[in-house]
Amino acid sequence: MSENIFKDNILQGKVAFVTGGGTGITGGVARALAEAGAKLAITSRKIENLEAAAKIITDNGGECLPVVCDVRDYEAVEKAIAATVEKYGKIDIVVNGAAGNFLCKANELSTNGFGTVVDIDTKGTFNVCRAAFEELKKSRGQILNISATLHYLATPMQIHVSAAKAGVDAITRNLSVEWGRYGIRVNGIAPGPIEDTEGMKRLLLPELKDKLVKRIPVGRFGRIKDIENSALFLCSDAASYINGVTLVVDGGQWLLGTSLG
Ligand code: HXC
Repeated sequence: MSENIFKDNILQGKVAFVTGGGTGITGGVARALAEAGAKLAITSRKIENLEAAAKIITDNGGECLPVVCDVRDYEAVEKAIAATVEKYGKIDIVVNGAAGNFLCKANELSTNGFGTVVDIDTKGTFNVCRAAFEELKKSRGQILNISATLHYLATPMQIHVSAAKAGVDAITRNLSVEWGRYGIRVNGIAPGPIEDTEGMKRLLLPELKDKLVKRIPVGRFGRIKDIENSALFLCSDAASYINGVTLVVDGGQWLLGTSLG
C-alpha cells in the first residue's frame, strides 16, 4: 500500500480532538490527521502514552496538546475540550476512540465489568460529543466514532463490548440526524481485526490467528494504516455528503462470521 495516497495538507487549518489518541488504532488516526495538517489534542487516562504520542507528532512537525482525561468523567471531558479551545481557538473534528476491552464469558462477567466497558465506550462517546457540541456547531465540524463489527452477528466473550459498540453506532445515527442541521456530520468506522494493536493482543488467542486469517476474504489482517486512510477520507471534504454512516473496514471479514467459538 502506498504510504501517502492523499493530496498534501487536506486538513490544513483544522483542529482535531481525539480520545484514546495515545495508542493503538486511534493513535494512528491522530498521527494521520496531524500529517494531513490538523492541529491535535489527544486524550487518554495515561500521561505516559500521551506524551510519547505527542512527541512523535511534534517531532514530525505537527502540533499536539496531550490532555489526561477519563471520558467517563463529564467534568474532565469539558475541561479537556476547554483546554483545546483555549490553545487552538476552535474544534473542527472529534474522534471518539477511547475504549475498554477484555475477553470474558457472559456468565463470568460482573455487572461492574459490563458497566465499565459501556461507560467508557458508549457513555464516553456521548460525553465527548455532548461537551464538544457548541464548538462543532460553530465550526460546522464533524465527529468520527470508532466502533467494531462484533455486534453485527454475535461474538462470544464480548457481550460487554458488543453492547457498548451497538450503543456507539446508535449514537452515530441519532446525532447525524439531530445535528446534521447544524452542519455537523457524524460518522463511524468499524475496524475488523487489525494487526499490532493492543486489542488484537488481548483478544485473539495465538492459536486462533491462522484460523481467523483464512476467514478474511482479502486474505490478510487489517493494518492501522487502513483505518488511518478511511479516517482521513471521512474527515475530508471528499466525504462532505456522508453522514450517519459507520464504514466497515475489515476486508469483508464480518460477512463470513466474526465468531470462531
Ligand atoms: C473480567 C474484568 C477484566 C477481565 C476488568 N474487569 N478486567 N472482568 N475479565 N479481564 C472487571 C473488573 O473486575 C471490575 O469489575 C470492572 O471490570 C472494572 O475494572 P477496573 O480495573 O476497576 O476498571 P478500569 O481500570 O476503569 O478499566 C478496566 C478496563 C481497562 C476496562 C479493563 O483497563 C481496559 O479496557 N483497558 C484496555 C484498553 C484497550 O485495550 N483498549 C483497546 C480496546 S480494543 P468488579 O466487579 O470486579 O468490580 C477495542 C476493539 C474492539 O475496543 C474490537 C475488537 C475486534
